[in-house]
Amino acid sequence: MATVIQPSAPQPLSRPGPHLGRFQGQVAIVTGGASGIGEATCRRLAAEGATVVVADVNGERAEAVAAELGNHSRAQQFDAADVTSIERLVLGTIERFGRLDVLHNNAALTSPALHAKDTNAIDISFETWDLVMGANLRAYLAGCKYALPTMIKQGSGAIVNTASTGAFSGDITRMAYTVSKAAIIGLTRQIATHHGPQGIRCNAVAPGLVLSAGSLATVPNVIKVMQRHLLTPEIGEPEDLAALVCFLASSEARYINGQTYIADGGMLAHNPAMADLIDLAARGG
Ligand SMILES: NC(=O)c1ccc[n+]([C@@H]2O[C@H](COP(=O)([O-])OP(=O)(O)OC[C@H]3O[C@@H](n4cnc5c(N)ncnc54)[C@H](O)[C@@H]3O)[C@@H](O)[C@H]2O)c1
Repeated sequence: MATVIQPSAPQPLSRPGPHLGRFQGQVAIVTGGASGIGEATCRRLAAEGATVVVADVNGERAEAVAAELGNHSRAQQFDAADVTSIERLVLGTIERFGRLDVLHNNAALTSPALHAKDTNAIDISFETWDLVMGANLRAYLAGCKYALPTMIKQGSGAIVNTASTGAFSGDITRMAYTVSKAAIIGLTRQIATHHGPQGIRCNAVAPGLVLSAGSLATVPNVIKVMQRHLLTPEIGEPEDLAALVCFLASSEARYINGQTYIADGGMLAHNPAMADLIDLAARGG
């Protein structure tokens, strides 16, 4: 007789704690470190031994996060739209701590007011396009530009860039944001190809919907719609991305370079019509 497996309620997936100590003695910069994915990554890096520079346009919030981290971690106010402030951030960190092991390029313009202007090819202004490309894309290049010479001298360094699942599929909104995220994947491969042989690893993470302050402000009504398209019982949280970023930044990922890892609850893994097909089946097909 066939075994009947009874369905059980979905169990929350367990998340192992930051017990690995993979970043002892290392120095890390996290941009956009005052909130969401960046903040969770700061906490995880520090819990695993790193001295972390919490870099953010919101200096006050960055100070509050850094104050909780220990390991001589500190805050640094900077603006991703201003490359001179990125130069100060990176070179100042190296001058103060004598090395740089991890750069997590993660800040992006996530304000709903900006997204309202980031429309489509016909309506978007060049000013909005340039603003988004500057803060989301050129800023990541600038971080690499100033970090790489020191990392190359050290013979090691890990860069993790935050892209987005938006890089892999079209959307009816956020033209410039989506293009900036797709370009980050190209930037990641370029850095890995140019500098991998010098001991540099550069990888990217591509989050799907993650419950951060940024996404909650931007897409509060969209969250319920999106949940139907996930293949996990829960929507992702910043800590889920922090775990992936820290894996890629650690020596456990020493054989991984130039790659982009999607963490989206399986949203891009299935037929885009899945939800419609479920509805169709419920109506008797
Ligand atoms: N949360 C999601 O659903 C999601 C999905 C895909 C990609 N992402 C990406 O993940 C990254 C983090 O997003 P989040 O959801 O944690 O956002 P968040 O809004 O919670 O945090 C973003 C942080 O970046 C800072 N920031 C904004 N503009 C800045 C600037 N000009 N200079 C310096 N810092 C600036 C903000 O002050 C904030 O602390 C972003 O690159 C975002 O595009 C997020």
